[in-house]
Amino acid sequence: MKTIVKNVDNNVNNEKNYTQAIDYLRQGEVVAFPTETVYGLGAIATNEQAVAKIFEAKGRPSDNPLIVHVGTTEEMERYVAHIPDLAKQCMEAFWPGPLTIVLEAKPNVLATNVTAGLTTVGIRMPDHPVALALLQQLGEPLAAPSANKSGKPSPTKAQHVADDLDGIIPMVIDGGATGIGLESTVLDMTLTPPVILRPGGVTKDMLEQVIGLVEEPTIAEHKIESTPKSPGMKYTHYAPQAPVYLIEAVDNVEEAVAALQNEGHTVALLAFNQFASTAADYFYPLGEQHALETIGANLYDALRSCDKTSVTIILVTVTDTAGVGSAIMNRLQKAAGEKWYRHK
Ligand code: TXA
Ligand code: MG
Repeated sequence: MKTIVKNVDNNVNNEKNYTQAIDYLRQGEVVAFPTETVYGLGAIATNEQAVAKIFEAKGRPSDNPLIVHVGTTEEMERYVAHIPDLAKQCMEAFWPGPLTIVLEAKPNVLATNVTAGLTTVGIRMPDHPVALALLQQLGEPLAAPSANKSGKPSPTKAQHVADDLDGIIPMVIDGGATGIGLESTVLDMTLTPPVILRPGGVTKDMLEQVIGLVEEPTIAEHKIESTPKSPGMKYTHYAPQAPVYLIEAVDNVEEAVAALQNEGHTVALLAFNQFASTAADYFYPLGEQHALETIGANLYDALRSCDKTSVTIILVTVTDTAGVGSAIMNRLQKAAGEKWYRHK
């Protein structure tokens, strides 16, 4: 299959830009498109066969449910049995935006493989002009996971999608680099208090200012049987080819790089800008140490860049966990399989 990449960056509101994508989607095909978080791989969420193509293209386990994307807040009631007041308040405050709300699904509306057999569904309205134009013109909900091969870092550029899915999907809509660069916050609102299943751009503090108490289990707590989980939690995520090790910026990063090189490693260092002069074989700047939004936006591109090199080990400096730092550290711990570099 030849993959068409259509650039819409200069004129996102031109309806004609979306005609071909909409034709593909209505024919039951999948199309990759940008959102404000990461690129998604969309199929019409009521079409079981189309949704099956998402799982096939990504190599995604069939027990991991997909997020449903809507173009208007009004659509929520078509797919959800009951919208509690707290959910309404969240939609009002954060939609369109990087917040996925999990609620009890209305039976027999969405394709069963979207929810992977669960009775709940995760829904969000993305805050990106291309995603919104596509959804509103299509007038149908799009089931869309991140548009990467399962296990890889999510795509923040159309090129990342092509790197993983060229020849496998018919079309990518290129709307430039995504803004946030980390996936949406997933909030389970079937529980009281609501539970953050995946931290993202909408932080615990931001949620609590609107709806009061919200729980955010740590990765360790998520491993305990009784903690509510996203089915996706158990799978490897965000991992480049070479092993990733985390390191505190206050530890001696220069020494760590030198020690690894002495052991024969080709080292990639993904670190704050202040480490630019470290003698790593490859250096990918993440941003200034406290510029968490910038670091979040750069992270996946940096991790993916390592796959284009011959590095044998990747060292990444860690952030604190305040605000968006929680989402950054969640992804980094998974990319690293929780491995830390300890100086020997
Ligand atoms: O920012 C995003 O959320 C991106 C863009 C494309 O919108 N999408 C995305 O989708 O990250 P995906 O499939 O890569 O991640 C969806 C996560 C998974 O961890 C999945 O297990 C969880 O959301 N999820 C989806 N529906 C759920 C449900 N009903 N209950 C619990 N977790 C759910
Ligand atoms: Mg994903």
